[in-house]
Amino acid sequence: MTSPESVLPLYDLVVDVIIVGAGFGGCYALHEMRRQGYTAKILEAGGDFGGVWHFNRYPGVRVDSETPLYQLSLSNVTDSFNFTERFPDGEELRRYFDHLNDTLDLRKDAIFNTKVSGVHYDQVKTTWSFSTDSGLCATSRYAIFASGSTNKAFIPNFSGIERFTGPIIHPSVWPEDLDITGKKIGIIGQGASGIQILQTLAKQDCKITVFIRNPCTAIPMGQRVIPTKESEGLKNLYDTIFTRAKYGSPVGTAYNRCKVSYHDLSEEERNKLYEKLWKRGGYAFLSSNLPEYIVNKQANADVYDFWVNKVRARMADPVKRDIVAPLQQFQWIGTKRPSLEMDYYEMIDRPNVSLVNLKSTPIKEFTNGGITTVDGKAHKLDIVIVATGYDSVTGSLYDMNITDKEGVSLRKKWQDGIKTYLGMMVPGLPNAFFLYGPQAPTSLANGPPFLELQVEWVTAFLKKMKSDKLKAVEVSNEAAEEWGQASLKVFNILLNRETPSWWNGANIPGKRREPLIWHGGIPAWWQECSNALADWSKFTVSK
Ligand SMILES: Cc1cc2nc3c(=O)[nH]c(=O)nc-3n(C[C@H](O)[C@H](O)[C@H](O)COP(=O)(O)OP(=O)(O)OC[C@H]3O[C@@H](n4cnc5c(N)ncnc54)[C@H](O)[C@@H]3O)c2cc1C
Ligand SMILES: *[C@@H]1O[C@H](CO)[C@@H](O)[C@H](O)[C@H]1NC(C)=O
Ligand SMILES: *[C@@H]1O[C@H](CO)[C@@H](O)[C@H](O)[C@H]1NC(C)=O
Ligand SMILES: *[C@@H]1O[C@H](CO)[C@@H](O)[C@H](O)[C@H]1NC(C)=O
Ligand SMILES: *[C@@H]1O[C@H](CO)[C@@H](O)[C@H](O)[C@H]1NC(C)=O
Ligand SMILES: *[C@@H]1O[C@H](CO)[C@@H](O)[C@H](O)[C@H]1NC(C)=O
Ligand SMILES: *[C@@H]1O[C@H](CO)[C@@H](O)[C@H](O)[C@H]1NC(C)=O
Repeated sequence: MTSPESVLPLYDLVVDVIIVGAGFGGCYALHEMRRQGYTAKILEAGGDFGGVWHFNRYPGVRVDSETPLYQLSLSNVTDSFNFTERFPDGEELRRYFDHLNDTLDLRKDAIFNTKVSGVHYDQVKTTWSFSTDSGLCATSRYAIFASGSTNKAFIPNFSGIERFTGPIIHPSVWPEDLDITGKKIGIIGQGASGIQILQTLAKQDCKITVFIRNPCTAIPMGQRVIPTKESEGLKNLYDTIFTRAKYGSPVGTAYNRCKVSYHDLSEEERNKLYEKLWKRGGYAFLSSNLPEYIVNKQANADVYDFWVNKVRARMADPVKRDIVAPLQQFQWIGTKRPSLEMDYYEMIDRPNVSLVNLKSTPIKEFTNGGITTVDGKAHKLDIVIVATGYDSVTGSLYDMNITDKEGVSLRKKWQDGIKTYLGMMVPGLPNAFFLYGPQAPTSLANGPPFLELQVEWVTAFLKKMKSDKLKAVEVSNEAAEEWGQASLKVFNILLNRETPSWWNGANIPGKRREPLIWHGGIPAWWQECSNALADWSKFTVSK
C-alpha cells in the first residue's frame, strides 16, 4: 500500500527556470525569461527586491555609479522614473526597485524569505532541484544563479569579541532603530561602507573612534542634485549612453577614454589633465586618465602624488594626514576599490573623531566595554561597527551547497582554483548559469549594464539550444581551463597583482589567492561570449 506521503508531489514548484536572487541580475533575468516564453520564479533570501540595496541601510549608503547608468535600460522602466541625484542613495534605489516591480510586474513570480540551501542536478531527468530553508522545494530545467558577490558578510575573528556587551553591527544588517545619540562608536574598516558611514555619522552627536588598517584612496564624488527637467532631457541620449556603456567601455560606464599616452605629455600637461578630471568628480579621474597608470609603476606613482597632495590639503591634523594619505605611496592607486567620497577627509580631520592606526597598533582584543590595542590602550566604546566587508564573489555561492552532476560540491571543485567559462558556466553543471559571479567583469564593472549583457547572453544561449533541439548543454573542461588561464594572464599584466584585496581573495583568512574577477574589461570578455555561441565547440551537448 502506498503511504499518503508518497503520492504527494515531490516538488512544490516546477518551472522552466529557477533564478536565485532578486537584485538587478535576478529581476532582469526574470523579465527576459518570461519574454522568451519560459515559466520562471525567483527564490530570494531577503524580503523584497533590490539585492544589496534591500539589505544595506547604513547611514550614508549610496552608489558610486553615476546617473543615468545605474539602472536597467528598458525604456518602459526608464521613461517613468527620475533619479534625483548624480549618485543615488539607498532609499532612492529602493524606490527604483519598487518601480521596477510595478513596471515589469515582477511580484507574481518572486518568492521571498526563502534561502536556497542545496542545489542538485538529476542526470536522468536533466533537471535542477533546489531545497530551501523555508521548506519549499523547486525543480527546473535551467538554473540561473543571480546571487550577487557581496552577500556573505565577513567579520574577522577578533579575540574576545563575544565579551563585548554592546551591539556589533555589520553595515549590511544595520538596525532600523539604532540610536547613536551621545554614544561612543567604534568603526573598524575604511573601505566603501566604512567611509560612507564615517562621513555621515561624524556630523551627528556622537563620539567616533575609527580603526584603520589600509586607507582607501577615495576620490571626490562631485555629488549634486539632478533637477527633473535635466533628468528628462538626459533621456534623449539614453540609447547612446547605454550602448556605449555596454559595448564600448571596459567597465560599463560612458566616460571618455584618454587618447594620449603618459609618455606623450610633459609633467605640466599631465597635471593639467589630472586637475581637469579631478574637478569633474567621480570615476572619470580613473576611467579617463592616462591608460598606463594601471600597468606602469611610474605612471601610477604620478597619479598617487596628485591624489595625495589634493587630499592632504584638505586636512589640518598632521598625524591623521599621515595615516589616511601618506606621502609614501602604500598601494598602487586604482588597484583596490577606490571609493567615492563627499567630505570624508574633512570629517576624519575633525578633532572629535579619533583615528587608530592598526598598522602600528593592531587590535589586541575586545573587552566588555571596548577595544584594546597592542600598545595597551583601552578604547571605551558603546557600539562597534564592523565595516569589514564580505567573503566576496564565491562566499554565498559556496554556502548555497551547489553540487555538480556527479554530486561534487562547488567548494570542492574549486579548491585548487575557480574554473568557469566566461564566468557564467561551470563544467559538470549543465544548463546552469552564473550572473555577477567569478571570472567575469563583475565588481570591476558598473553593475546594471554588465548584468544586461550577461542575461542577454543566457537568452541567446537558450534560443540556440531550442533551435538545435538540445536537452542539456555543459561547458567543456578545456574551455574552462583556457578561460581561467586567460583570466590569470591578464591579471598578471596589471599592477593589481601586487595589491592584496577582496578582488583576489586576500581579505579572507585561508581563502585561495586568485583573481576572483576577470580583469580584462568588458569588450574582450564580450568578444569571447559572442564567439562562444558561433557553434557548440566549447560545450558538450545532449539531444
Ligand atoms: C554597499 C555596496 C555598494 C555598491 N556600490 C556599487 C557601485 O557603486 N556600482 C556598482 O556597479 N556596483 C556596486 N555594488 C555592487 C552591487 O552588488 C551590484 O551593482 C549589483 O547590485 C549586483 O546585482 P546582483 O543582482 O548581481 O546581486 P545582488 O544585488 O547582490 O543580489 C543578489 C541577491 O541574491 C540573494 N541570495 C544570495 N544567496 C542566496 C541564497 N542562497 N538563496 C536565496 N537568495 C540568495 C541575496 O539575498 C541578494 O538579494 C555595491 C555593493 C554594495 C554592497
Ligand atoms: C510589487 O508590486 C505589487 C503590485 O504589482 C505589490 O502588491 C507589491 O507590494 C510590490 N512589492 C513587493 C515587494 O511585492
Ligand atoms: C512596455 O509597456 C507597454 C504598455 O504596458 C507594453 O505593451 C510593452 O510590451 C512593454 N514593452 C516591453 C519591452 O516590455
Ligand atoms: C520626471 O520628470 C519629468 C519632468 O519634470 C516629469 O514630467 C515626470 O512626471 C517625472 N516622472 C516621475 C515618475 O516623477
Ligand atoms: C549547506 O550544507 C551544510 C552541510 O550539509 C549545512 O550545514 C549548511 O547549513 C548548508 N547551507 C545552507 C545555506 O543552508
Ligand atoms: C577564533 O579565534 C579563537 C582564539 O582567539 C580560536 O580559538 C578560534 O578557533 C578562532 N575561530 C576561527 C573560526 O578561526
Ligand atoms: C564634532 O563636532 C562638530 C562641530 O563641532 C559637531 O557638529 C559634530 O556633531 C561632532 N561630531 C562628533 C562625532 O562628535
